[in-house]
Amino acid sequence: MPAAAASCMSDGSTSDAPRIGVLISGRGSNLQALIDAIADDQLRARIDVVISNRPEAGGLERARAAGIDSHVIDHRQFRQRNDFDAAVASALERRGVELVCLAGFMRLVGPRLLDTFPNAILNVHPSLLPAFPGVDAQRQALEHGVKVTGATVHLVTGELDGGPIVLQAAVPVRDDDTVDTLSARILIEEHRIYPMAVGLILSGSWHLEGRRFVAGSEKGPSLV
Ligand code: GRF
Repeated sequence: MPAAAASCMSDGSTSDAPRIGVLISGRGSNLQALIDAIADDQLRARIDVVISNRPEAGGLERARAAGIDSHVIDHRQFRQRNDFDAAVASALERRGVELVCLAGFMRLVGPRLLDTFPNAILNVHPSLLPAFPGVDAQRQALEHGVKVTGATVHLVTGELDGGPIVLQAAVPVRDDDTVDTLSARILIEEHRIYPMAVGLILSGSWHLEGRRFVAGSEKGPSLV
């Protein structure tokens, strides 16, 4: 169906837009940034499903409000981490999503999910990776005393917060920053670059050179 003739969905996306799945654990402000970017025509995609590993995640309400299907797959119901991973992978596979976006998803992504979506899982992290991987990245940055930190969107691999970097944005650290004030300024950048990175990945106009993510086809760079 040509884009002009595509029907408009309740979340503002068009029915022939690339399908993505979003995994959350908490408040879901990055999920909201994706929802808003789609509604504002900044991102051509359709969020087909939101999956949370926590029933109390605030992001589930954001999904409902946007008319997006949401599910809870509670990791506590699974004895083995691999079984939880397989359940999430199957749910995403059934929906036919081509890209999985982690948005504050606080579980490690295991081999089953990685193998189902090779180079097709994105994460947003609140530091300039490879500095300060793991939890409490903003606190780590403050305690280390760096003067600049930021946000990173990267492809997810088996290495924690270690996959190829798609986009980054820098945020200065102020002398009077607390974890909360710094986190709030980083979050603004997360919300700005995550939809951009999703659009870039979905455009298909990129390739990997070793662990480097390079925008543009292998024949030559293109503008993004
Ligand atoms: C964000 O800071 C993200 O970078 C990190 O967890 C936080 C999630 O926030 N991985 P939200 O749930 O998207 O509001």
